[in-house]
Order: sequence, then C-alpha cells, then structure tokens
Amino acid sequence: MPRSGRFSGRIIAGTVLFFLAAVGLLYHREWTLPPPSFSSPPGLKTKVMIVGDSISQGTEGDFTWRYRLWEWFQSQKIAVEFVGPYNGTVPPQGRPPPSSIPLDDNLRATDVSKSQWGTWGGYAPSTDTLFPQENGGAHFALWGRSAFQVRETIAQQVKTYMPDLMLVELGFNDLGWFWGPEDTVQSMETLIRNARAANPRLKFAVSNVPYRTAIDGRDDLPVMTDHYNDLLEKALPGWGTEESPVELVHFREDYTCYIDDCPAGHDGLHPNALGEYQIARAFTQTLHSKFGMGKAPLEIPDDIPPRICSTPPNVQASQASNGINVTWDAVYGTYRYEMQAKLPDTIEWSEGFLPTYLFYYETTWPSAGESWEFRVRSSCGDALKSDWSGVVSAVAATSSQNTDEE
Ligand SMILES: *[C@@H]1O[C@H](CO)[C@@H](O)[C@H](O)[C@H]1NC(C)=O
Ligand SMILES: *[C@@H]1O[C@H](CO)[C@@H](O)[C@H](O)[C@H]1NC(C)=O
Repeated sequence: MPRSGRFSGRIIAGTVLFFLAAVGLLYHREWTLPPPSFSSPPGLKTKVMIVGDSISQGTEGDFTWRYRLWEWFQSQKIAVEFVGPYNGTVPPQGRPPPSSIPLDDNLRATDVSKSQWGTWGGYAPSTDTLFPQENGGAHFALWGRSAFQVRETIAQQVKTYMPDLMLVELGFNDLGWFWGPEDTVQSMETLIRNARAANPRLKFAVSNVPYRTAIDGRDDLPVMTDHYNDLLEKALPGWGTEESPVELVHFREDYTCYIDDCPAGHDGLHPNALGEYQIARAFTQTLHSKFGMGKAPLEIPDDIPPRICSTPPNVQASQASNGINVTWDAVYGTYRYEMQAKLPDTIEWSEGFLPTYLFYYETTWPSAGESWEFRVRSSCGDALKSDWSGVVSAVAATSSQNTDEE
C-alpha cells in the first residue's frame, strides 16, 4: 500500500467509526373540535417544550430550527417561554470518542441523566442576544434520541417544566437503528399519553419523519419512513382529546431532502441554514392552521444568512516521538477537520478527516527521516468548506521506527 494509502486508511477508519457512533434516519381525518386557544392571561407566557433528536439539538455554531421558530414567535408578538432541561447544541468535546461509547447503552438508555452527549454547545454567533438572555435555547432534544427512549422520561420533564405546548420531532433514530414503524408509532402514543398524564391540557404538534439520502445497504429506510408516516397520520387524530389535541407537522413534505439529493441538509439529513428554516416553517404551519397562532406561518427569506466556516489558524507541523504532529487552533462551529498530506515531490494530496474534539493529528505512518507536507480546512457540511490553510511540513523522527503500526 502506498504511504498515502496508509494515511487515508487510518484516518478514515477512525472517523468512520466515530460517525457511525454519532448518528447518533394517507388518509386525513378532519379535526372537528374548535381550535384551542393560546391566549395566556396578561403577563403569562405560553411555555413551549421542544422534544427531539440531533435534528433539533443541532451542532455548535448552528442557528437551529428552534431559533428560527423563536424568531417567528417574536415577529408574531406571541409571548412564549421555551422550557426544558438543556439549552445548548452539541459541543465538540461533548461528542465522546468512539472507543468510549457503549453504543447500545447510549441509544437505549432511558435515564436522561445518563446521556453521554454534551449540551453546552453554542449557537451561530449572529443569533439575537435576546435568545440566550430569555433562555430561548431551552429544550429537551439530544443527539441519538429515539421516541422509545423519551416515552417514559417525558412525564418527569412535563412535571418539572409544565409546558403548555409540546413540539415533538422524533422517530428517525427509532426507524434508523432499532425499531419498526409499528413500534415507533406505539412509542409516540405512549410518549403523548405519559406527557398528558402530567399535564392534561398539554397541546401537541408532532412531526413525521424526513427522508435522508441513500445509505448503502439501507434500502429499507425510505420504505419504513413512508410506512411510519402513513401510520402516524392515521393514528394521530385518535390520540387527541378536547383539552389536549395532537396535530401533525408535515416535516417530510416541507423539507427538501430526498433519497438522491438533500438541498436542505448538510450531510444528507441534518439541516443546513435553509433546512433549519424549512423545519421551523413546517411547525409554524401547524401552529398557525391548527392552533390559531400568529398571523401567518414563517416565511423563508430569499437571503438566508450563511453559516460560519473559518480556516483553522496557526497550523503547525513538528517532529514528534512517533512521527509528525500536526496542530492547529480549534475553529468554532466546524463539523470536522479535513486534512491533506503528501510527500514534497508528489502532486496528488491524499486526504482524510478528523472529528472536532481533536485539533491535532499525530502521524505514526511516515518512515523515519521522511519529510511530509500537510494542510487543514474546516468542513461545515458537504457543501460548505473553509479555504485550505497554508502548507506546513516537518521531518518524521528518526528515533522511533513505528513498530506498532500496520
Ligand atoms: C445555558 O444556560 C447556562 C445557565 O444559565 C448559561 O450559563 C449558558 O451560557 C447557556 N448556554 C447556552 C448555549 O445558551
Ligand atoms: C501533539 O500535539 C498535541 C496538541 O498540542 C499534544 O496534546 C500532543 O501531546 C502532541 N503529540 C505528540 C506525540 O507530541
């Protein structure tokens, strides 16, 4: 195998593992009861709890659809308070390295406190300062969350925070990893029943599940998604009560993400700046048409502010005990670092990527005395990359002969 192959193989194997672990994927019956009223007594705010997975929690540097929804409430002059046990996106250091994730436990754990995912990540720097000040980031959404996991723990959250309105975005992880469509509908029904037991007047807007771009060997996913969405739409009207209606949110239909192309997502599923608006819009359509909130649903602007994505600063390569150590300063809001390496006398770069909880790369594969060149950039989605850093180089150490590699 050429040296560049060794580089790519190693770096990609590590990160593929990481990403596998991280992911943490009709009939209509009219609602005949009068739309419930959200007119709170003067001075009281409507308490909104968003219950979701990574699509709702977001990643450090995202605006999140929760923020776009919060903006809509402000623009409609609807007094709301977002509530929930968390308030952040997932931070880089809050994503455990692959070796430390007991994947099964992590996804199946029903104890909220046992989550291994961080919740202290920040938002896009240009979000309104009122958003954190008014605790607009409060939520109950976590990477990897399934309806199955939340169905029991939800009761305690409702008791603690007493929301008036619950917005549920869950189901992808159920279908993607563990459960079939029937099980998932059952989990959703249990979730709603348990939440309502803690507040009999709680109102629900529940989204269906979006498509994602094709994954090798998972042709079943879009089929299961269709089946689940169909079952959900049929079952949902039967779950409502007069005081506690349950309404569908057409996430799948309002989100431009399909099997072969996903303009709304940054990785084939999770929302980019456009997708965040689309999800918020889907929820506001239901809030407006079914619950009489606001004068109109959220309008997606023509000019969507882009997400930040900066080039890693201070890139350096230096000799290290096992080869070469490439270091740089962490970049706020990047999803991963992409690195290229080559020998000085070659033209082609070989490349790999690194998760954001590391901002250095210790090579162990160069032969002793060899000089290598490197450059690094930030990746903020499939279609959003920073410029490459300048090229740095170093000579691999001669003292150690990489005895444990390959
Ligand atoms: C979350 O809330 C804590 C405590 O109020 C605050 O210090 C922190 O900045 C908030 N985090 C975000 C991302 O808003
Ligand atoms: C590489 O650099 C990082 C960051 O400065 C440091 O923590 C690590 O120990 C270095 N590794 C080696 C082998 O020198």
